Amino acid sequence: KDAYTLASEAAAALRSAAGLDTSDAGFDTALVMGSGWVPAADAIGETVREIPFTDLPGFRAPAVAGHGGKIRVVRTPSGRHALIFLGRTHLYEGLGVDAVAHGVRTAAAAGVRTLVLTNAAGGLRPETQNVGDPVLISDHINLTGANPITGTTFIDLTEVYSRRLRALVREIDPTLAEGVYVAFRGPTYETPAEIRMLRTLGGDMVGMSTVLEAIAAREAGLEVLGISLVTNPGAGLSGEPLDHEEVLEVGRATAARMGVLLSKVVDRL
Ligand code: 6GU
Repeated sequence: KDAYTLASEAAAALRSAAGLDTSDAGFDTALVMGSGWVPAADAIGETVREIPFTDLPGFRAPAVAGHGGKIRVVRTPSGRHALIFLGRTHLYEGLGVDAVAHGVRTAAAAGVRTLVLTNAAGGLRPETQNVGDPVLISDHINLTGANPITGTTFIDLTEVYSRRLRALVREIDPTLAEGVYVAFRGPTYETPAEIRMLRTLGGDMVGMSTVLEAIAAREAGLEVLGISLVTNPGAGLSGEPLDHEEVLEVGRATAARMGVLLSKVVDRL
């Protein structure tokens, strides 16, 4: 069975588990909450239903603490419906690119047109970035060595992260910076030499997610918004070793700000 068929099956199961019938228009937006972002999800809207990943075809429970493991259907104050993915599959889990893209493909098959991808990232520009700052992703550099698309369809990536959506978010918060997100496969953090390389390459944030999902989303025709939460400087930039618990702690500390931002964003999309 191919990945797109599996995503259609998951979308049908999701729509029925969410209580939508087939004539319903469905969801306006899907959000993928990276580590550090899960505590912000509560601010987006009232929970209509929660569906464990394990109830849907093709999904796996995330292996990592703090990465969630369910889809929440929410109703925003203005009456819109959004799908919130509490957790995602990462390439470093070893399940392959289709497992990484499955959530995005399922959202697209369920009728979503707009996708918000969030992540926790290392900051490559401590001169201008503060820990706890959200940064809009303007573009990416894919150093995962992988791609969710196989075959001979050439897909334009001139504007993976929608200019229109970024402008809209900056109307909500004009203080937000933009930056280029670099993705490695992980699960190791980068070495200090790799961090220096990424600065030279023009990267601003580094992480282990988002790029493959964004590519799958563009293939599916979704409009994509990406936001990184800078949880720590990259290795060697601060003198401190990196720690996943610190990533989660920054998320908890900034949950209120990120929640307000996301709820305004979802209502404007
Ligand atoms: Cl420094 N690197 C990567 N790859 N992911 C991260 C990170 C760094 N900080 C948070 N997530």
